Amino acid sequence: MILVTGATGNIGSALLKELHARGVGPLRGLTHDAARAVFPQGVEAVEGDFAEPTSLKSVLKGVRSLFLVSRLGSDADILEAARQAGVEHVVLVSSITVQTHPHLGPADENLAVEQLLKGTGMAWTILRPTQFASNALMWAASIRGRETVRAPYAETALPTIHPADIASVAQVALTEPGHHGRTYALTVEGVL
Ligand SMILES: NC(=O)c1ccc[n+]([C@@H]2O[C@H](COP(=O)([O-])OP(=O)(O)OC[C@H]3O[C@@H](n4cnc5c(N)ncnc54)[C@H](OP(=O)(O)O)[C@@H]3O)[C@@H](O)[C@H]2O)c1
Repeated sequence: MILVTGATGNIGSALLKELHARGVGPLRGLTHDAARAVFPQGVEAVEGDFAEPTSLKSVLKGVRSLFLVSRLGSDADILEAARQAGVEHVVLVSSITVQTHPHLGPADENLAVEQLLKGTGMAWTILRPTQFASNALMWAASIRGRETVRAPYAETALPTIHPADIASVAQVALTEPGHHGRTYALTVEGVL
């Protein structure tokens, strides 16, 4: 059983579609609201809140591979519950800032989760994406309304990556050999 967290989100929804299209299963997607989640046919929608320790045991039952979007709750509790449930491999979404801007707060938080995961004894694969192309959707209203984008550092170009490309890497890490104990920095050009 593969559990995809953030299953209605940018990466998770693309990942479930890609795993399903490749015939991988069984698959479970985590959401707060199973009635509203639109998953591919046959994917089990499981309701839960990873910020609530009481959710963890039932959601993780029978799971052997976990795609984890960090900071949905206490990552220490989530990873310990995963270990106790018998999860064998965790693919974690971290951030490229761990290596490019280690002095910034979010990088520290992502590094801490990476280190927690490495200490659990479960096999791990860490994905460190740069900023998501989907972040640009926050400008949709101002582009429609005023044909304007307001953002700091207008002269600064930063790489982006489409969440579906992150999902493709996660799909490979979850289903093909050779990716345990590996950390991948993901940019639009691929793996650094
Ligand atoms: N945006 C960037 O540029 C960027 C860059 C690097 C790394 N990241 C990392 O990428 C991750 C976000 O990925 P994303 O954009 O794919 O996610 P997203 O689109 O923001 O979706 C978040 C998902 O998490 C679920 N969720 C929220 N709180 C939850 C909780 N307490 N328990 C269980 N599920 C919960 C929501 O599901 P329901 O509403 O259905 O319950 C939703 O599917 C974050 O860890 C972020 O740090 C982002």
